[in-house]
Amino acid sequence: MQIIDGKKISAEIKEEIAREVAEIKNKGEKTPHLAAILVGHDGGSETYVAHKVKACEQVGFKSTLIRFEDDITEKELLEKVNELNNDNDIDGFIVQLPLPKHINEDKIIEAVNPRKDVDGFHPINVGRMSVGMPAFVSATPAGILELLKRYNIETSGKHVVVLGRSNIVGRPISILLSQKADFGNATVTVCHSRTPNLKELSLQADIIIAALGVPEFVTADMVKEGAVVIDVGTTRVKSDKTKSGWKLKGDVKFDEVAPKCSYITPVPGGVGPMTIVSLLKNTLLAAKGSIY
Ligand code: GUN
Repeated sequence: MQIIDGKKISAEIKEEIAREVAEIKNKGEKTPHLAAILVGHDGGSETYVAHKVKACEQVGFKSTLIRFEDDITEKELLEKVNELNNDNDIDGFIVQLPLPKHINEDKIIEAVNPRKDVDGFHPINVGRMSVGMPAFVSATPAGILELLKRYNIETSGKHVVVLGRSNIVGRPISILLSQKADFGNATVTVCHSRTPNLKELSLQADIIIAALGVPEFVTADMVKEGAVVIDVGTTRVKSDKTKSGWKLKGDVKFDEVAPKCSYITPVPGGVGPMTIVSLLKNTLLAAKGSIY
């Protein structure tokens, strides 16, 4: 069994990005600039956005954090999105989700200029990705593919079982892995809350992608000997053992599942750090105008 070290791989990729940014700056070109909008004070969102801003600093990007209280109106938020769309210094920006209930997330996502949509959430980017056109691919699926590539884990001809059908992870990763492309060509089964025979299907998987957001959902009796298990779960649970008072729990019961696997990602330190570097990569692509 080999642990897939997302922390190490993400550090390597950050160094690659930092080298490219240094070259851009040496040539006197514009520093890539990522902006993030954070609404309210959700603990998870605060942590994720703080990590994104810190990662920008580490690679030499400029970053701007724009904060609003959770009573901001949809109209005000749309105005800010529009302002960022028209700000030539900003190459890409994200609106951290979830948003308060009175704001229609779809409306906000659709308002982002697809050329600056480094989260890859806009339907134009999702559509382009789905048909294999150049597109901003959302950060978590892109991070998972990068881990599979860097560990040379074959996907062609394999049976991948994706647990979860979210717009952010389950849906896009299922599309990407089934595409006719390097690190695609898999046969993909998408399972969700209405799948009656989930265990029967997961036991057939060569690769399991667990993205349900249910802590320790995947147990050893659901995993075939030698399978690859990618854990996307990041549920925050209270803990008296950490400084912050919280710890992250994955969707996989790591201790009992790991011995059965050929490869497995830990939580934390697996997919999470890769999500952040994928966002940085997308921002660099936006700054270079590589997608559109
Ligand atoms: N909320 C959870 N994951 C993400 C993400 O990748 N991007 C944004 N904007 N919000 C999120």
